[in-house]
Amino acid sequence: MISSDLDRDRIPGHIACVMDGNGRWAQQRGLPRTEGHTAGEQALFEVLDGADQLGVRWFTVYAFSTENWRRPVDEVQFLLRFNEEILLNRQEELHERNIRIRFIGRQDRRVPRRLVRRMREAAELTKDNTGLTFTIAFNYGGRSEIVDAVQRIVDSGVRRVSEKTIARHLYDPEMPDPDLVIRTSGEYRVSNFLLWEIAYSELVFSETLWPDFRKEHLYAAIKEYQDRDRRYGGVGEADGDPGTLG
Ligand code: FPP
Repeated sequence: MISSDLDRDRIPGHIACVMDGNGRWAQQRGLPRTEGHTAGEQALFEVLDGADQLGVRWFTVYAFSTENWRRPVDEVQFLLRFNEEILLNRQEELHERNIRIRFIGRQDRRVPRRLVRRMREAAELTKDNTGLTFTIAFNYGGRSEIVDAVQRIVDSGVRRVSEKTIARHLYDPEMPDPDLVIRTSGEYRVSNFLLWEIAYSELVFSETLWPDFRKEHLYAAIKEYQDRDRRYGGVGEADGDPGTLG
């Protein structure tokens, strides 16, 4: 699969990715699970590059879920450091490529202050960039996001709530709903990722473990997306995107 097999007029504007299978990739090789995450970094930046080259405008990844705290302490510690190091090592390069880095998720007390600071720095450094927006879901849960939105709406004293009200109170109200969600490693679940936002997204599941995922797999997922008929509850493409109903 190469990029010229794709219809350039129907590239998804927003792709969201569940980078699954790092642990199994490592275990298959007799390596510690953390080696799988390390190998996943290369996959991530190659796929991000591929998406950018195709003209994808928004690319979102599930880096650490609200459920990931249940992993063994060593792995949690590793993932916290790993995310921090990725930000440190990659932010300049992303900035030079005009990529805007954003974060969604809860910045509660479990997230080390230093990591919160790094996230703020990366977002601040790249905030005026006009290229692809790379959103990192960290300490993110779809249900928590909806709960936090509802809490803020209640706190604001609003009495009439519509879909737009909720959408405006999500972690990043500017983030458009994903057109395409890719989950790797042959797991067919949503796992609390972007629950509100994926109401009409196309879901593509790949058998490839995340560390082996490359541009060609991204192209294959986009091809699958392009071969689908998005009806949004209507009867054909002409019905168009319903947007968020007020
Ligand atoms: C799931 O594999 C993957 C993760 C929990 C983390 C993946 C994170 C990265 C590749 C880095 C992202 C960081 C930034 C800053 C963008 P798994 O451990 O659930 O694999 P398994 O299902 O085989 O156990």
